[in-house]
Amino acid sequence: MGQKLANPEIEMVNFHGILTSSKKMEHFFELIKRAAPTDASILIRGDTGTGKELVARAIHELSHRNQKPFRAINCATLSAELLVSELFGHVKGAFTGAISNREGLFKIVDGGTLFLDELAEMPIDIQARLLRVLQEQMFVPMGGSNPIKVNVRILSATLRSLRDGVDKGTFRADLMYRVRVLPLFLPKLTERGRDIEALTWHFLEQLNAKSRSRKVSYISSDALDAMMSYSWPGNIRELQNVVEYAFILGQGDCIELHDLTPEISGERIVTGVQPESAQTAWDIEHEQLLEAYRKSRGKREDMAHLLGMSRTTLWRKLKEHQIT
Ligand SMILES: Nc1ncnc2c1ncn2[C@@H]1O[C@H](COP(=O)(O)OP(=O)(O)O)[C@@H](O)[C@H]1O
Ligand SMILES: [Mg+2]
Repeated sequence: MGQKLANPEIEMVNFHGILTSSKKMEHFFELIKRAAPTDASILIRGDTGTGKELVARAIHELSHRNQKPFRAINCATLSAELLVSELFGHVKGAFTGAISNREGLFKIVDGGTLFLDELAEMPIDIQARLLRVLQEQMFVPMGGSNPIKVNVRILSATLRSLRDGVDKGTFRADLMYRVRVLPLFLPKLTERGRDIEALTWHFLEQLNAKSRSRKVSYISSDALDAMMSYSWPGNIRELQNVVEYAFILGQGDCIELHDLTPEISGERIVTGVQPESAQTAWDIEHEQLLEAYRKSRGKREDMAHLLGMSRTTLWRKLKEHQIT
C-alpha cells in the first residue's frame, strides 16, 4: 500500500505549453529564444515523446513568421509517393488518381515554417528534391512545368542521428549540413529534475478537472517510487498515457501501485507452461506488443501511441516479433 502522498505543488515553468521544473530545460528555452527569431534551420534531437513538436511550434511562435502558417509532416509514416505529393503538390493528371491540382506544403506554408519530423527516415531520392528547395527556395510541383518561388523556414527533428544515416548511406551529407545549422538536444524525462512527479500531478489535475466520477488527491508512496525508478523510454507521452491509464482503471482518491501499467508496477503476466524464470526481455516485449495490439484492435497509430514509440519503431518490432 504505502503512504498516501498529496500534491507537493512543485513549481513549474510553462514555456509555450512545455511544462518543466528543470533548470536544464530552462537553459534549453534560453537557446530557443535566441535561435527562434533568426531564419536558421534548426534540428531538434530527442527521444520519442520528449516534446520535439512542441519545441518546433514554440520556435515558430517566437519568430517573425508567427502570423504565417506552421505545418508538421512526419517523414516516417508516409509512402515516398505520398510524401512527395504532400511536400511539393501536384498538377491534375500528374499520375493516375491526380484528379485535380493539389497545393504542396511548401506552397501552403509560404512565409511560415515547415516542420519535418523523423527526417532521418526520408527516402533518399526525396532528400535530393528537398535540398534543391532549400538551396533555391524554388520548386516544381509533380507533373508541373513552372517553378514556384517560396520562402519557408525548415525545422526538423530526428531520433536517430543524421550522421549515422550519412555513414550508412541512407542520408545525404549535404542535406544534413543544411538542416542542422543549429542542433538542439532535448533531455529525456528522467534527466529533468522533478518533472516525473510534477508532470504526474499536472496530468492528474487535468484529468480531475475533466472527470465527473473521479477525483484523485493522493498518490501512494510505492506507486510514486515505482514511477521515479522507471526509465520512461516513451518520455512525457508515455507518462501522460500511464497517468491516464491509472486514472481510468483505478478507484478512489489515490493512485496505487497496482493501478500502474505492468512495466512500471513490476507485475508480470505469466503465460502458459513456461518456467517462471524463463521470461526474458523479449517475452515481456512480446506480451506488451500483443496487449497493445488487442487494445487497439491492430490500429497501428493507436498501438504506437499506447506503447509510446514511433510508428517506424513499432513497424520494426512487429516484424521482429512476427505479429501481423
Ligand atoms: N514538457 C511537456 N509538458 C507537457 N506536455 C508535454 C511536454 N512534452 C511533451 N508533452 C506532450 O507529450 C506528447 C508528445 O509530445 P511531442 O512533441 O509530440 O513529442 P515528440 O515529437 O518528441 O515525440 C504531446 O501530447 C505533448 O503535448
Ligand atoms: Mg513527434
